[in-house]
This record gives sequence, structure tokens and C-alpha cells, in this order.
Amino acid sequence: MEERDRVKITDRLARPLRDLRLSVIDQCNFRCVYCMPAEVFGPNFRFLAEDQLLTVEEMALLVECFVELGVEKIRLTGGEPLLRRDLDALIERLSALPGLRDIGLTTNGVHLVKWAQRLKEAGLKRVNVSLDALDDDIFRNMNGIGIGSAPVLKGIEAALAAGLGVKVNTVVKKGWNDSQIVPMAAYFKDLGIPLRLIEFMDVGTTNGWDYSHVVTKKEMYEQINAMHPLEPVEKAYFGEVASRYRYV
Ligand SMILES: C[S@@+](CC[C@H](N)C(=O)[O-])C[C@H]1O[C@@H](n2cnc3c(N)ncnc32)[C@H](O)[C@@H]1O
Repeated sequence: MEERDRVKITDRLARPLRDLRLSVIDQCNFRCVYCMPAEVFGPNFRFLAEDQLLTVEEMALLVECFVELGVEKIRLTGGEPLLRRDLDALIERLSALPGLRDIGLTTNGVHLVKWAQRLKEAGLKRVNVSLDALDDDIFRNMNGIGIGSAPVLKGIEAALAAGLGVKVNTVVKKGWNDSQIVPMAAYFKDLGIPLRLIEFMDVGTTNGWDYSHVVTKKEMYEQINAMHPLEPVEKAYFGEVASRYRYV
């Protein structure tokens, strides 16, 4: 389809529909306290059967329809997208779609060691790796399955070695991992990897959200700025959700 023929969809604030998150699987190997807490997503929780998930063909068709409505960027997510066995086939299909400018992937990173090279070859350019703490005990409490940070850091290394761009996502929950904000900023600053700090959000009814557990963007900014001065960066495009800063 020609660019000029595309229907552009905007919301009531005139922001164009450009990004689409596509959840490729509902299962996850983590039980993060702010997302899929173990008390709710326990051993008896019924996830979708494999034949209930959208196939690669169905997802590619959906994305094609959304591209016609103006979507330019797809973010593959889940659950944990690296648990989806045919993820490389999906990325290969999406990479071939004209009009789709960008494909991202959000993952907890533990399976990147085995996946990174294959995903890069399929056409993936970059990954956002979720990591909520460097400290093993804090990370174990956050992820709910008792895993330390080393497997995720190895996943990040594998992604970089495969030539993928990497950003790190950290959800901050007050009283749980807020002590990690400055150490993580310093660690990833040294590696030249952008760190994206995310306020604990009220997503649905199963993650026990409470404002007393929120560390605001302003508080996070002040903590880092006191140690490593920051300056704001212009929005990359109209409607961008993140506020971005660079180290002075
Ligand atoms: C739901 S996860 C799915 C992908 C993958 N399993 C991962 O760990 O990145 C996608 C993103 O949503 C974030 N997220 C989940 N629950 C959240 C919450 N309550 N508040 C803020 N961010 C949340 C995660 O930290 C992650 O960066």
C-alpha cells in the first residue's frame, strides 16, 4: 500500500496510532510481584492451551491490518515471548512486511543466551530486557522464582554479542527495589546501556497495586541526579510516553 493511501488513526489528543504491543504467549517463567504474583498465578493457574494461541500466520495478518491503519512499530511481549517456540518465524514474517519500520521485543532475558543469535538472523534489531535489581536477594524477591541477576546479565551479554541493541527496563516498587535505582543507573551508565525506570502501575486487579508502593518519576530523577547529574532530552516524536534524560 502506498504511504498516501494509508488511513491514519488518532486518539482524542490527536496522537497517531503508531505502536502496537503484541502478546505472543500468556505464560511466563517469572512470577514478578508487580505483574504475575505467585499467589495468583500458582501451579493450578490455567494458561491458554497451545492451540488457543494465535498462530504466526494469524499474528502476521493482524499486524498487516494494523500497519494499514498507521502502525509503524510492533513490540513483541507476553507473558515471556522467548517461551514461544516459533518466535523466530514470526520475526522473519514481520521483518518482511513493507511499512513496518521497527520490531522490538521485551523479555526477562534468561533465554536470550540460546535465542539472541537466531532472533538477530530473523531480523530483530533490538531488545528491552527487564531487570529489577542487580542485588541477588532483592531480585529473587521481585521475580518470585528465586533466580539471581546473573542469568539475565548473561542474556544481555549474548544480545550485545549478537549485535542487538539493548535497553534495560526496571519497574520500581517502593520498599522492594528502590535501593537499586542508583546502583543500576551507575552500572548501566558504564556499559552505555539505556536504563528505563518504570513507575509501578495499576495493571488489572491481580498485582496488589497500592500508591504507597509507588516511587514517582520525580523521586527517581532526584535520586539519580544527585549522584550523576542529568539533563532532559527532547521528545523523539509527538506523543512519546517516556521522559528521557542524558547524563551531563
Ligand atoms: C509484562 S512484561 C512481558 C515481557 C517479559 N516477560 C518481560 O519480563 O519483559 C512487559 C513489561 O511490563 C512491565 N510491567 C509489568 N507489570 C507492571 C506494572 N504493574 N507496572 C509497571 N510495569 C509493569 C515489565 O516490567 C516489563 O518491562
